[in-house]
Amino acid sequence: MEALEAIASRRSIRRYAQKPVPESDIATLIEAARLAPSARNGQTLRLVVARRDKGLVRSLFELTSWGGAVKPRRSPSWGVDAPTAFIAVSAPRDSSTHVRTDAGAALENMSIAAGVRGVGSCWRGAFDDNEAARILGLASDREVLYLLAVGYPAENPVAEPSNGKTTYYLDADDRLHVPKLTAAVAAEWR
Ligand SMILES: Cc1cc2nc3c(=O)[nH]c(=O)nc-3n(C[C@H](O)[C@H](O)[C@H](O)COP(=O)(O)O)c2cc1C
Repeated sequence: MEALEAIASRRSIRRYAQKPVPESDIATLIEAARLAPSARNGQTLRLVVARRDKGLVRSLFELTSWGGAVKPRRSPSWGVDAPTAFIAVSAPRDSSTHVRTDAGAALENMSIAAGVRGVGSCWRGAFDDNEAARILGLASDREVLYLLAVGYPAENPVAEPSNGKTTYYLDADDRLHVPKLTAAVAAEWR
Protein backbone atom coordinates (compact mmCIF):
# COMPACT_ATOMS: atom_id res chain seq x y z
CA MET A 1 0.00 0.00 0.00
CA GLU A 2 1.29 3.43 -0.89
CA ALA A 3 1.91 5.80 2.05
CA LEU A 4 -0.80 8.29 1.04
CA GLU A 5 -3.33 5.49 0.67
CA ALA A 6 -2.55 4.33 4.21
CA ILE A 7 -2.85 7.91 5.50
CA ALA A 8 -6.09 8.55 3.63
CA SER A 9 -7.78 5.36 4.80
CA ARG A 10 -6.98 5.87 8.51
CA ARG A 11 -10.02 6.98 10.51
CA SER A 12 -10.58 7.36 14.22
CA ILE A 13 -12.59 4.35 15.37
CA ARG A 14 -14.96 4.62 18.32
CA ARG A 15 -16.79 1.28 18.12
CA TYR A 16 -14.83 -1.94 18.45
CA ALA A 17 -15.42 -5.65 17.98
CA GLN A 18 -14.88 -7.63 21.19
CA LYS A 19 -11.99 -9.69 19.78
CA PRO A 20 -8.47 -8.99 21.06
CA VAL A 21 -5.81 -7.77 18.66
CA PRO A 22 -2.88 -10.23 18.60
CA GLU A 23 0.18 -9.11 20.54
CA SER A 24 2.27 -9.44 17.37
CA ASP A 25 0.18 -6.70 15.73
CA ILE A 26 0.47 -4.46 18.76
CA ALA A 27 4.23 -5.10 18.74
CA THR A 28 4.25 -3.67 15.21
CA LEU A 29 2.61 -0.51 16.54
CA ILE A 30 5.36 -0.22 19.15
CA GLU A 31 7.94 -0.53 16.36
CA ALA A 32 6.16 2.27 14.49
CA ALA A 33 6.25 4.46 17.60
CA ARG A 34 9.87 3.87 18.52
CA LEU A 35 11.02 4.70 15.00
CA ALA A 36 9.15 8.04 14.90
CA PRO A 37 11.06 11.30 14.66
CA SER A 38 11.71 13.25 17.87
CA ALA A 39 13.15 16.69 18.55
CA ARG A 40 16.94 16.38 18.83
CA ASN A 41 16.35 12.61 18.64
CA GLY A 42 15.60 12.92 22.36
CA GLN A 43 13.34 9.82 22.54
CA THR A 44 12.01 10.63 25.99
CA LEU A 45 8.62 9.01 25.37
CA ARG A 46 7.77 5.66 26.93
CA LEU A 47 4.83 3.41 26.19
CA VAL A 48 2.69 1.14 28.32
CA VAL A 49 0.56 -1.44 26.50
CA ALA A 50 -2.58 -2.31 28.44
CA ARG A 51 -3.94 -5.49 26.89
CA ARG A 52 -3.30 -8.59 29.05
CA ASP A 53 -4.77 -7.08 32.21
CA LYS A 54 -8.46 -6.54 31.43
CA GLY A 55 -8.94 -4.68 34.70
CA LEU A 56 -6.30 -2.18 33.63
CA VAL A 57 -7.86 -1.80 30.17
CA ARG A 58 -11.22 -1.16 31.79
CA SER A 59 -9.81 1.37 34.27
CA LEU A 60 -8.23 3.36 31.43
CA PHE A 61 -11.39 3.04 29.34
CA GLU A 62 -13.41 4.56 32.16
CA LEU A 63 -11.23 7.68 32.08
CA THR A 64 -11.89 8.37 28.42
CA SER A 65 -14.45 10.56 26.67
CA TRP A 66 -15.60 9.90 23.12
CA GLY A 67 -16.83 11.70 20.03
CA GLY A 68 -17.83 15.02 21.60
CA ALA A 69 -19.50 16.23 18.39
CA VAL A 70 -21.86 13.24 18.24
CA LYS A 71 -22.21 12.44 21.93
CA PRO A 72 -23.44 9.97 23.11
CA ARG A 73 -23.74 8.10 19.83
CA ARG A 74 -20.02 7.27 19.65
CA SER A 75 -19.50 6.61 23.33
CA PRO A 76 -18.62 2.90 23.51
CA SER A 77 -19.75 0.70 26.39
CA TRP A 78 -17.52 -1.71 28.27
CA GLY A 79 -18.14 -5.32 27.17
CA VAL A 80 -20.14 -4.19 24.13
CA ASP A 81 -18.02 -2.09 21.79
CA ALA A 82 -15.12 -0.80 23.90
CA PRO A 83 -11.49 -0.96 22.70
CA THR A 84 -9.65 -4.13 23.70
CA ALA A 85 -6.32 -2.41 24.41
CA PHE A 86 -4.77 0.96 25.13
CA ILE A 87 -1.28 2.26 24.51
CA ALA A 88 -0.35 4.98 26.97
CA VAL A 89 2.33 7.47 25.91
CA SER A 90 4.22 9.09 28.77
CA ALA A 91 6.95 11.73 28.99
CA PRO A 92 8.98 13.39 31.72
CA ARG A 93 6.82 15.95 33.55
CA ASP A 94 7.19 19.55 32.34
CA SER A 95 8.88 18.56 29.09
CA SER A 96 9.16 21.13 26.29
CA THR A 97 6.28 21.44 23.84
CA HIS A 98 8.44 19.56 21.33
CA VAL A 99 7.90 16.41 23.37
CA ARG A 100 4.13 16.65 22.89
CA THR A 101 4.86 17.00 19.17
CA ASP A 102 7.08 13.90 19.39
CA ALA A 103 4.10 12.11 20.90
CA GLY A 104 1.97 13.21 17.97
CA ALA A 105 4.43 11.69 15.52
CA ALA A 106 4.52 8.43 17.49
CA LEU A 107 0.72 8.27 17.71
CA GLU A 108 0.23 8.94 14.03
CA ASN A 109 2.81 6.30 13.13
CA MET A 110 0.97 3.82 15.35
CA SER A 111 -2.43 4.74 13.88
CA ILE A 112 -1.18 4.24 10.33
CA ALA A 113 0.57 0.97 11.18
CA ALA A 114 -2.66 -0.21 12.81
CA GLY A 115 -4.88 0.81 9.91
CA VAL A 116 -2.92 -1.08 7.27
CA ARG A 117 -3.41 -4.22 9.40
CA GLY A 118 -7.16 -3.70 9.67
CA VAL A 119 -6.77 -2.61 13.30
CA GLY A 120 -8.70 0.46 14.44
CA SER A 121 -7.46 3.13 16.81
CA CYS A 122 -8.42 6.47 18.27
CA TRP A 123 -6.27 9.12 19.94
CA ARG A 124 -7.42 10.05 23.43
CA GLY A 125 -6.69 13.57 24.49
CA ALA A 126 -9.62 14.08 26.86
CA PHE A 127 -8.90 12.16 30.09
CA ASP A 128 -7.64 12.78 33.60
CA ASP A 129 -3.88 12.38 33.09
CA ASN A 130 -3.11 12.34 36.82
CA GLU A 131 -5.55 9.49 37.30
CA ALA A 132 -4.08 7.67 34.28
CA ALA A 133 -0.57 8.00 35.76
CA ARG A 134 -1.84 6.66 39.09
CA ILE A 135 -3.61 3.69 37.47
CA LEU A 136 -0.50 2.87 35.45
CA GLY A 137 1.76 3.25 38.48
CA LEU A 138 4.05 5.74 36.74
CA ALA A 139 6.91 7.35 38.63
CA SER A 140 5.96 10.81 39.93
CA ASP A 141 8.35 12.51 37.50
CA ARG A 142 6.41 11.24 34.47
CA GLU A 143 3.05 12.17 32.97
CA VAL A 144 0.68 10.54 30.50
CA LEU A 145 0.36 12.69 27.38
CA TYR A 146 -2.02 10.58 25.33
CA LEU A 147 -3.74 7.24 25.22
CA LEU A 148 -4.29 5.36 21.97
CA ALA A 149 -7.36 3.12 22.00
CA VAL A 150 -6.82 -0.03 19.92
CA GLY A 151 -9.13 -2.77 18.64
CA TYR A 152 -10.84 -4.21 15.60
CA PRO A 153 -13.28 -1.70 14.04
CA ALA A 154 -17.02 -2.16 14.39
CA GLU A 155 -17.82 0.95 12.39
CA ASN A 156 -16.78 2.29 9.01
CA PRO A 157 -16.33 6.08 9.14
CA VAL A 158 -15.68 7.97 5.93
CA ALA A 159 -13.75 11.15 5.15
CA GLU A 160 -15.20 13.70 2.74
CA PRO A 161 -13.84 16.89 1.17
CA SER A 162 -14.83 20.18 2.81
CA ASN A 163 -14.37 23.84 1.95
CA GLY A 164 -14.75 24.99 5.54
CA LYS A 165 -16.88 22.80 7.77
CA THR A 166 -14.85 20.54 10.08
CA THR A 167 -17.45 19.09 12.46
CA TYR A 168 -17.85 15.35 12.04
CA TYR A 169 -21.42 14.01 11.96
CA LEU A 170 -23.54 10.89 11.68
CA ASP A 171 -25.79 10.28 8.67
CA ALA A 172 -29.22 8.64 8.65
CA ASP A 173 -27.53 5.22 8.50
CA ASP A 174 -25.44 5.99 11.60
CA ARG A 175 -22.25 6.25 9.56
CA LEU A 176 -19.70 8.79 10.76
CA HIS A 177 -18.58 11.39 8.21
CA VAL A 178 -15.34 13.30 8.77
CA PRO A 179 -14.95 16.50 6.72
CA LYS A 180 -11.36 17.14 5.63
CA LEU A 181 -10.40 20.52 4.21
CA THR A 182 -9.47 20.42 0.54
CA ALA A 183 -5.90 21.12 -0.54
CA ALA A 184 -7.10 24.44 -1.99
CA VAL A 185 -8.22 25.56 1.49
CA ALA A 186 -5.44 23.93 3.49
CA ALA A 187 -2.48 25.15 1.45
CA GLU A 188 -1.42 27.95 -0.83
CA TRP A 189 1.30 27.74 -3.44
CA ARG A 190 3.67 30.63 -4.00
C1 LIG B 1 -4.60 15.26 19.95
C2 LIG B 1 -5.88 14.53 19.67
C3 LIG B 1 -6.74 14.25 20.70
C4 LIG B 1 -7.92 13.57 20.47
N1 LIG B 1 -8.74 13.25 21.51
C5 LIG B 1 -9.90 12.61 21.29
C6 LIG B 1 -10.76 12.26 22.38
O1 LIG B 1 -10.46 12.52 23.56
N2 LIG B 1 -11.93 11.63 22.09
C7 LIG B 1 -12.28 11.29 20.81
O2 LIG B 1 -13.34 10.70 20.62
N3 LIG B 1 -11.47 11.58 19.75
C8 LIG B 1 -10.30 12.22 19.97
N4 LIG B 1 -9.47 12.52 18.92
C9 LIG B 1 -9.84 12.10 17.54
C10 LIG B 1 -10.35 13.27 16.70
O3 LIG B 1 -11.66 13.60 17.08
C11 LIG B 1 -10.28 12.85 15.22
O4 LIG B 1 -8.94 12.71 14.85
C12 LIG B 1 -10.97 13.84 14.30
O5 LIG B 1 -12.36 13.86 14.53
C13 LIG B 1 -10.73 13.53 12.83
O6 LIG B 1 -11.15 12.22 12.50
P1 LIG B 1 -10.14 11.17 11.87
O7 LIG B 1 -9.13 10.83 12.94
O8 LIG B 1 -11.00 10.00 11.50
O9 LIG B 1 -9.49 11.80 10.68
C14 LIG B 1 -8.26 13.18 19.14
C15 LIG B 1 -7.38 13.46 18.10
C16 LIG B 1 -6.20 14.11 18.35
C17 LIG B 1 -5.24 14.38 17.20
